[in-house]
Amino acid sequence: MKRRKRIAILTGGGDCPGINAVIRAVTKVAINEKGIEVIGILDGYHGIVNNRYRKLDYEDVAGILTLGGTILGTSKTANPYRYAIQKGNHLEFKDLSKIAIKNLKKLDLTCLVCIGGDGTLGIAHRLFKDGIPVVGLPKTIDNDLRGTDITFGFDSAVSIATEGIDRIHTTAQSHHRIMIVEVMGHRAGWVALYSGVAGGGDIILIPEIPYDIHIIAEKVKDRNKKGKRFSIVVIAEGAKPKGGDIVIQRIVKESSDSIRLGGIGFVLGEQIEKITGLETRTVVMGHLLRGGSPTPFDRILATGLSTKAVDLIEKKKFGYMVGVKGNSLVNVPLKDVAKGPRIVPLNHAMIKAARSLGTCFGD
Ligand code: F6P
Repeated sequence: MKRRKRIAILTGGGDCPGINAVIRAVTKVAINEKGIEVIGILDGYHGIVNNRYRKLDYEDVAGILTLGGTILGTSKTANPYRYAIQKGNHLEFKDLSKIAIKNLKKLDLTCLVCIGGDGTLGIAHRLFKDGIPVVGLPKTIDNDLRGTDITFGFDSAVSIATEGIDRIHTTAQSHHRIMIVEVMGHRAGWVALYSGVAGGGDIILIPEIPYDIHIIAEKVKDRNKKGKRFSIVVIAEGAKPKGGDIVIQRIVKESSDSIRLGGIGFVLGEQIEKITGLETRTVVMGHLLRGGSPTPFDRILATGLSTKAVDLIEKKKFGYMVGVKGNSLVNVPLKDVAKGPRIVPLNHAMIKAARSLGTCFGD
């Protein structure tokens, strides 16, 4: 008798709105239309190393379209090729990929569907090279994945950040203050750029354009002279001054990408206040950008990408991530995705547009 096909879904890296929309769409299309059985791996790559998973039935994914986070759990540290094990008060790293691959083979999968950013998809690519049939889906609020114009989660994060900036605007105006809104984006400034433009930020600072504090101070003073007694600065957590450095908040030793940023907004605020004498406050939006319900755009994107992913599985086209190019859904070899972050090009149309409206980028 022909065995029923079975796929497993795994979510890795930081969570974001839209992951559950993908889990739902992949599961529903697989079960409904293709008669494929679905398994959910728990807590990202931890689940593969430790054999933790559960069956996903149609009913398990009903009603999760609008739900933030991931019903499967995730991990930003688990990597079968460099698995962190606590030994007393120090960490040891072991290559447990053979165990992970053995566990996956026991599940007799047609495909492992990996939902993640470049870390998760980089590991997916290694598993693919080691003989596991894999398909990837592009998830991250940072929008910094190669091979796709957009990742799901980004639009939701921009929308939350914009709402934050809008709320900050009125308090900045009322108190005649400089208000700094720090948003996530450790390597790429997509969220800061888009929310900064959408929220009418006067100054937008992104990792791609190191800033000069004196140019920022001049801009703020100039606005004051012209009667605009407040200014809004939107800064990505990965922004840094010319010749200076990023602000590290913590080191997560068990993570392959161990640096966590946060706090550059406070450093900048103190400096602006010192140079201009104008009262300044900083708000860090941080993980707020990763929570809550996905925007309609992200729900639609997640659904479209998921159906395309199931198509790839049917066609046995493994080793690819589905992505967006222009108005089309495309397949991108995972090896191209794993080549490092997609940062904002300095000649990006949105930077040009903002500059011509008078927005300062600190350069
Ligand atoms: O990759 C998404 C991201 O949200 C980054 O923008 C941010 O630097 C990082 O995750 C924060 O990670 P953690 O959840 O470990 O604090």
